[in-house]
Amino acid sequence: MNDTAGEIGVQSARRGSMTPDSGPPGRKPGGSNAWPPVIQTDNLSRSFHKNVALRQLSLDISRGETFGLVGPDGAGKTTTLRLLAAVMRPTSGRVRVAGFDTLRQAESIHAHAGYMPQRFSLYADLSVLENLNFYADIFGVGGDERKQRIAQLLAFAHLQPFVERRAGQLSGGMQKKLALACTLIHRPDVLLLDEPTTGVDPVSRREFWDILTELHLAGATIVVSTPYMDEAERCNRVGLLFKGELIECGAPAAIKAMLKGQVVELRAEPVSRAKETLSRQPEVIEVQVYGDLLHVVVDDANRRMPLLRSALESDGVRVDGLRAIRPRMEEAFISLIRRRQAQ
Ligand SMILES: Nc1ncnc2c1ncn2[C@@H]1O[C@H](COP(=O)(O)OP(=O)(O)OP(=O)(O)O)[C@@H](O)[C@H]1O
Ligand SMILES: [Mg+2]
Repeated sequence: MNDTAGEIGVQSARRGSMTPDSGPPGRKPGGSNAWPPVIQTDNLSRSFHKNVALRQLSLDISRGETFGLVGPDGAGKTTTLRLLAAVMRPTSGRVRVAGFDTLRQAESIHAHAGYMPQRFSLYADLSVLENLNFYADIFGVGGDERKQRIAQLLAFAHLQPFVERRAGQLSGGMQKKLALACTLIHRPDVLLLDEPTTGVDPVSRREFWDILTELHLAGATIVVSTPYMDEAERCNRVGLLFKGELIECGAPAAIKAMLKGQVVELRAEPVSRAKETLSRQPEVIEVQVYGDLLHVVVDDANRRMPLLRSALESDGVRVDGLRAIRPRMEEAFISLIRRRQAQ
C-alpha cells in the first residue's frame, strides 16, 4: 500500500483547525467514540407525503470511522445519505456534519463532504478527463492544484489508460471508480457513498474497497451503504435500517453475536422440500436459503445435526455437506429483520 491516499482524499490533516469540530487527524484507534462525532443526527426524520422514509434517527459517527448502512430495498439508506449530504431537507430533527448544520450551512457541508449518489452521476458523453475537469469546475479547484489533483486521482483509481474514453463506455467498475475520483476532487474529509459497488464484479469491488481502505487509513470519515455483507464486515460499525428505523447498530462482531442460536449448513435436493421439512422441526429457529445451500439456525448445532439429517432423509431429501458453521453478518441481519417483522 502506498501513501497516495494521504495526498488524495482527505484534507483534515492539512486543514486541521479549519473544521469547526476538528479532532485529531489520521487513523482512529479502534473504538467508535474515541473522538468527538464528525456526524451527528438528532431525531432525524424525513417523510414523503404519508410515507415515513426515515424515522427519528439519532446517531453519532466519529472522525475516521467507516460506518456501513445496510437494510432491504426502501429501508431509507439513500434518504439518510441525502440528508447527511445536505441535498435534502429533513421533515424534522437535525444533522450536523463536520460541525455544520445541514439546514443553515449546506454550502459548508458541500465543501467538506463528498457525496456519491446511488444513481449514475457522471456525464456519459464526456471523457474521463472531461468529467474530472467538470467536477473541478463545480468545486472551484483550479490552476496547478487541479492538474495535480487530477493526475493523483487518475493514478489512485487506475484510470490513466482511459482518460480519453467516454464515461458511458467504461465498464461498471471503472465508472464507479471515476465517480469516486470525481467525489474526491475537492479533498472532502467526510465521504458519503450510496451503494458505490452495487452491480460491480467481485474483483472491481475488491479494488474499490482497497481504495476506501487507503482513505480510511488517511483519516477519512466514511459512511457507505451496501447490499453486500462482506463489505459490511469491513466497517468499524454497521447500522441496520428497516422501514426507516435504525433497528441495530454496532461493530460487526457485536451484530453477529446478536444471532440467537448456532448455524448448521447443508446442501439439499430438492431445496424447497428441505426448507419445508426443516421449518416444521420444533428445534429449528429459522431456515435461510442461499441458492442450493441452506442455513439452519438451531439452539445447539452438534446436538441437532443428526436429528435434522434423519428428518430430511425420511422425507426423501438428499443431504450433503451437513456441518456447523460460524454465523455471518448475513444470518444475523436476516434473523434480526425477521424478529422485527414478527413483532
Ligand atoms: N423522492 C421521493 N419521493 C417519494 N418517495 C420517496 C422518495 N425517495 C424515497 N422515497 C421513499 O422513501 C422510502 C425509502 O427510500 P430510500 O430510497 O431511502 O431507500 P433505500 O434503502 O435507499 O432503498 P434501495 O436499497 O432500493 O436503494 C421508500 O419507501 C421510497 O419509496
Ligand atoms: Mg438507495
